[in-house]
Amino acid sequence: MATANRPARIVVLVSGAGTNLQALIDACADPAYGAEVVAVGADREAIEGLARAERAGIETFTRRLPEFATREEWDRSLAEVVASHEPDLVVLAGFMKLVGEGFLAALAPRVVNTHPALCPSFPGTTGPADALAHGVKVTGATLFVVDGGVDTGPIVAQVAVPVEDDDDVEALHERIKVAERGMLVDAVGRIAREGITITNRKVRFGS
Ligand code: GAR
Repeated sequence: MATANRPARIVVLVSGAGTNLQALIDACADPAYGAEVVAVGADREAIEGLARAERAGIETFTRRLPEFATREEWDRSLAEVVASHEPDLVVLAGFMKLVGEGFLAALAPRVVNTHPALCPSFPGTTGPADALAHGVKVTGATLFVVDGGVDTGPIVAQVAVPVEDDDDVEALHERIKVAERGMLVDAVGRIAREGITITNRKVRFGS
């Protein structure tokens, strides 16, 4: 993680708008934050997330699944390029693919993912829509350490967000994302500066 001489090295993976990435880039501008985004990767081209990285002068890479013969080969190539940046932490910030065994063998437990629901509720790619359809009154966002399941890993941080009567999926997801960005910036900064310890699924800041 961060030392007196250098900030923690973070690689961020994205698939879309990259507003969570942008929040991390902005936080890293303050040396006291203790982290630096050294590279941004994606599973698709021409997305705003990659454009945000380029505008910030951060190296980017893309690994598209259709360009590989098997999912394992895609996963291995993704792991290799991420590892080549020597990250202290990998942040999946709206990365809409499951990373595989090879990726986790190379990089776990240094991989965290932000999810727009209160885990273990509503895993997968449609968390806000599933929460709305279920009729919950409170949902939110979760930062967790990635394991082999779908949004099942040890929980680093959560933030709760109310569901309003007139919400549609977009309005609810936007409200979640505002809270999510604050949670992500806070928790990633603490991981960078303090490290984390995981005991029987319970995550604590500090080493
Ligand atoms: C975020 O809400 C993130 O939690 C979600 O995608 C959004 C990305 O927003 N991720 C998932 O649903 C993963 N299962 P962004 O591209 O603006 O950061």
